Amino acid sequence: MNTIREARIIQLPKIPDDRGNLTFVEAGRPVPFIIQRTYWIYDVPGGEVRGGHAYRELQEFFVALSGSFDVTLDDGKERKVVSLNRSHFGLYVPNMIWRHLENFSTNAVCMIMASMTYSEKDYIRDYESFIHMVPKGE
Ligand code: TYD
Repeated sequence: MNTIREARIIQLPKIPDDRGNLTFVEAGRPVPFIIQRTYWIYDVPGGEVRGGHAYRELQEFFVALSGSFDVTLDDGKERKVVSLNRSHFGLYVPNMIWRHLENFSTNAVCMIMASMTYSEKDYIRDYESFIHMVPKGE
């Protein structure tokens, strides 16, 4: 069972240049899974919240390509909030972590790399169901 301790910020390579910075990821590094899908969230109206679910199997890696937003992570026992606002840092989130995204700045672009193609069956969209799937005890 994963905990929010397994979720972590990973620094990405950054090639500084007078012409502008360049950052990249490659298969398997430093994102700790093989990327099968990429999607991005943008044009988020002020005050809106995204996410609000967990995944049975899916692992994800979040990058703030522009602007900033907060990711709240919840493993059923503990919560933590991670703010993303730099394009050369990403947040790795393992499966079975409830998450939501909020406090999007104007023009924020959240890119998410995912370990699997889209599957609605992988979502846990009901928080009570999620809590029941988390093992009890320490
Ligand atoms: P959802 O994952 O619920 O959004 P978020 O967690 O970012 O708030 O997805 C919203 C809708 O988009 C839902 O109908 C499923 C669809 N969708 C896809 O078709 N493919 C995808 O890769 C993703 C992430 C979502």
